[in-house]
Amino acid sequence: MNNRPIGIFDSGVGGLTVLNAVTKILPKEDIIYFGDTARVPYGNKSKSTIVKFSTDNILFLLRKKVKMVIVACNTASALALDYLQGIFNVPIIGVIEAGAVKALEMSQSKKIAIIGTRSTIASGSYEKAIVKRAKEAKVYTKACPLFVPFVEEGIVKGKTVQRIVEMYLADFKRSDIDVIILGCTHYPLLKNEIAQYLKGVHIVDSATEVAFHAKNVLAAHKSLRYERRRGTQEFYVTDEPRGFMKLATLFLKRQIKKPGVVNV
Ligand code: DGL
Repeated sequence: MNNRPIGIFDSGVGGLTVLNAVTKILPKEDIIYFGDTARVPYGNKSKSTIVKFSTDNILFLLRKKVKMVIVACNTASALALDYLQGIFNVPIIGVIEAGAVKALEMSQSKKIAIIGTRSTIASGSYEKAIVKRAKEAKVYTKACPLFVPFVEEGIVKGKTVQRIVEMYLADFKRSDIDVIILGCTHYPLLKNEIAQYLKGVHIVDSATEVAFHAKNVLAAHKSLRYERRRGTQEFYVTDEPRGFMKLATLFLKRQIKKPGVVNV
């Protein structure tokens, strides 16, 4: 079990923020990364579609004999995680709970902002995860649908991004929040601009938090890899890989091996 890889899936390239965090926190683990590039984006799709796509993705990862699945995509975590945990035997973790727990830990005022795709925000999943643990918490949410295309165009700083950050986040300035959760795979790339705009507000990055959670879950299952070597990484996508490889350089600040192209 210990030497089997960890599977990570996302709707596309954004989950590489999670892969990045996992390789830092669990450097010995082998990783199979699956990006559903033929069907991206998930962020504006319905629950039944996201459940179906996520099920396909996990079936693929299970064929690769993974010991655990990390649902890197916030939208899939928000809409499909419960279903997936109910039908598969392998440990499956998502980004929502990990992000919510960290936000509560960091917040003094218990006034917490959450940003994400339309479907993530509409699902109310982050809110539920927070309020379940702290009834007194006040949650403010905003869907930021323009952030993903901007990041995917490589536009992560400068005047235009600042304008859009202001457009989406202005309301939070009036709400006295002290924590904001970046509830989407792509948003860590906009962290500097968001921090600049919301000065003094603590930023919770769900990608980092889920990597810590993965370590705890593997330790609890006695499935951590102990060999003294760096883990390997394999990439798979569902559409031609060129665009993915180009964006991977932006997300990981390094080049990746050519991904395999698969049908799920
Ligand atoms: N991966 C998605 C998320 O974290 C963003 C991209 C998409 O809409 O598919 O919600």
